[in-house]
Amino acid sequence: MIDLHCHILPGIDDGPGMMMESLSMARQAVADGIHTLVATPHALGGTYPNPPEKVLRETELFRAALRAENINLSVYSGCEVHNCLNMADRIVAGEATFLNPNKNHILVEFPFELVSKEFIQQLSKLLDNGITPVLGHPERNKKTLQDSMILYDLILMGCLVQMNSTSINGGFGPKVLECAKDLLTHRMVHIVGSDAHSAGYRAPVLSQAVTNCAETLENKAEALMMVLGRPQQILDGKKVEVPEPEKPKNSKWFFFK
Ligand SMILES: [Fe+2]
Repeated sequence: MIDLHCHILPGIDDGPGMMMESLSMARQAVADGIHTLVATPHALGGTYPNPPEKVLRETELFRAALRAENINLSVYSGCEVHNCLNMADRIVAGEATFLNPNKNHILVEFPFELVSKEFIQQLSKLLDNGITPVLGHPERNKKTLQDSMILYDLILMGCLVQMNSTSINGGFGPKVLECAKDLLTHRMVHIVGSDAHSAGYRAPVLSQAVTNCAETLENKAEALMMVLGRPQQILDGKKVEVPEPEKPKNSKWFFFK
């Protein structure tokens, strides 16, 4: 499997503090059947700017440590962009690390609260520049829990959706789990990533999520596409073909507090 969302580089964001923990995470990933992952520290706005030179340098140090420990895991550089002023211009200008060398896919953290008009305009601008935003864990957004029409429109616009394995495993609670299942059944999830931050609570594992997605979808092949087929297409810089999403009717989420 391929994990496109993983905070595994040591001491660079709110992921592992030390190389020893990064190596533990790598061993967990390999044991779970992950052969490739993209290191995606927080970047651009927010607390951790992490410019591409820094991410690349830290990725190379991590790769050397993996070789020294004989851990067979391929690691690429990426980042998780935080919403900020002029986000699209800054990405186009090369201030953030893409998910592939072709520089046509970037992981963008979906805001936890308000999805502003400005944010949507920034996503649109990225698409206009031939860059596909991969929206990280929208199922954890308070607004999506209430009404996933915004997400549906963003998918129609051309955005991809990455759901966290922890969400479909129930680790963020029953409301996020219900939202994750609803998004899955409405074909509004394209990729599953771990969004791992440590070797403990949020570890780099995907296999349980694949089992749960397959069960929800009653479709193992589609579940595997989320951790193998589509992530590989993104790494290769190819256009990702996705199924037509089904328009959500989630008024039942209006009672979320
Ligand atoms: Fe993340």
